[in-house]
This record gives sequence, structure tokens and C-alpha cells, in this order.
Amino acid sequence: MRLDDPRRNDPAQYDGLADQWWEASGGFAMLHWLAASRAGHIPPAPDPGALLVDLACGGGLMAPHAARLGYRHVGVDLNAAGLAVAARHGVAAVRGSVLAVPLRDGCADVVVAGEVLEHVEDDVAVLAEAARLLRPGGTIVVDAIAATRLAEVVAVRIAERLPGGPPPGIHDPALFVDRRRLLAAADRLDLDLRLVGLRPSLRDVVAWRRGRRDVVRMRELPTTAVLFAGYGRKRDVPRPPGSVPRPGERATAPARTVGE
Ligand SMILES: C[S@@+](CC[C@H](N)C(=O)[O-])C[C@H]1O[C@@H](n2cnc3c(N)ncnc32)[C@H](O)[C@@H]1O
Repeated sequence: MRLDDPRRNDPAQYDGLADQWWEASGGFAMLHWLAASRAGHIPPAPDPGALLVDLACGGGLMAPHAARLGYRHVGVDLNAAGLAVAARHGVAAVRGSVLAVPLRDGCADVVVAGEVLEHVEDDVAVLAEAARLLRPGGTIVVDAIAATRLAEVVAVRIAERLPGGPPPGIHDPALFVDRRRLLAAADRLDLDLRLVGLRPSLRDVVAWRRGRRDVVRMRELPTTAVLFAGYGRKRDVPRPPGSVPRPGERATAPARTVGE
């Protein structure tokens, strides 16, 4: 599919891919690797009621990791077919947009936004929702594709042709993420966020292709110019009362509870 094809990033594509979510060697294989990698940056649940909110949870690939770490796992996604799969894996599925999440402020100990920032028109608005949902001191983990020419070549032109690469047409490079803008927004939103580059372990990829490994480990890279992750926490210091909300933030979020 051409890079400027208007069918790129069409959300309806996920309907036809629902049976692939948990295929270790299917079109979402790399999302399994990223889920395991994210889990390595999430602390064990501080108490039995601790909540992990998974923004754009897809088929719920974080489920085994959230359970092992002791979290209640709420997944938010627009795609009903993916949510049904996630629910079968124990995720409390909430149908909604990551741009206006139907959960209350400060409900989350952990917010994960994996491979979604590069699928929405307003990635900063998703970050603002993550910040709103997090309790002070809570953990945020994101990963996404950078808005660079290199990422366009590697993550679209090359990866779409590789086994374990993304389904062709799933990415629109026009939506890839401006890292500087993301970091500036994180700071405004009281999120301390550190970006690192990621790549799959090449040795593991070979073993995976030979059927000797189910999951490929992700390695850190010195550059964030292709695939990157953001690890951080929400600052404990609350914003001074009466301060003016910043663009993309809500002044007062409606009181809504988990599962609504
Ligand atoms: C590449 S998948 C990532 C799924 C999951 N985070 C993972 O890493 O396995 C992108 C997901 O984002 C969802 N999505 C895209 N735009 C969305 C939006 N505005 N609100 C909620 N979900 C959205 C899609 O339905 C899809 O499930």
C-alpha cells in the first residue's frame, strides 16, 4: 500500500485482525515483545486494589504481565472486536476513546499507552488523558514510532514486508510522533518522562523465526529516531490551585468511575 494511501491507519482494519492478537508469530507478534518489555518498567502493585489502565489495549496483550505484577487491569479501546478478545484474557474492557477516557481522575497507579500515540491525530491529548488518570507518583509507560524519515523507511517500508512486522497499512507515517513536542507536553503535564530507543534483539529474532523462542527481547538503542519508549512517573507536587489549565488539558473532568 502506498504511503499516502488514505486507507492507512483505518481503524476498521483491526476488525479483520481480531484473531491475530494472541498469535505469537502473527501480524501482532512485535506487540507481544513490547508488552513484555513494558512490564519490565512497571513496579509490582503496591496493594491488591492497584489499577493499571491500558490505553488502546487492543487484544489485551498486557494481561499476563498486569496479572503477574498484581494489578487490576482495565483496558480502553475503540475497537469492539479487540476488546472482546481482551476480555477473554481477563481485562476489564471499556469501550471508549483514548482522547476522552471514561474513567475518573487519579484512578490509576499505572497508565500504559502502547503503540497508540502514532495512531491518533492528537498524541498530546492522549498524554494529557494519561496524566489526568494517574495518581501522583504513578507510573507511565508509553511506546510509539518517531516522526522521522528513518522511521518511515524502517517501520513502514521495510517492516510491513517482514514476518512479525506490522500488518500492511496499519501505520500512517503522517501520524508518527514528534518526540520533542511529546517531552515538552509531558513536562507541562507534571510527568517526568525519559525516552529511550528500542529494537528487537537480533539473536532472539533468529531464534523466534526458527520456532525456538516465543517472545523476542527488546534492547535499548542510543537513538529514539525509530521505535521509542517513554518511562516515567507523575510528579507528587500538585498544580497550584487556581492555575490556568494548559491547552489539551481539561479544567475539571467529569466524575466517572472505573468500569463505567
Ligand atoms: C497497534 S494497536 C496497539 C494495541 C496495544 N496497545 C498493544 O500494544 O498490544 C493500536 C490500538 O489502538 C486502538 N485505537 C486507535 N485509536 C484509538 C482511539 N482514538 N481510542 C481508543 N483506541 C484507539 C486500536 O483500536 C488498536 O487496538
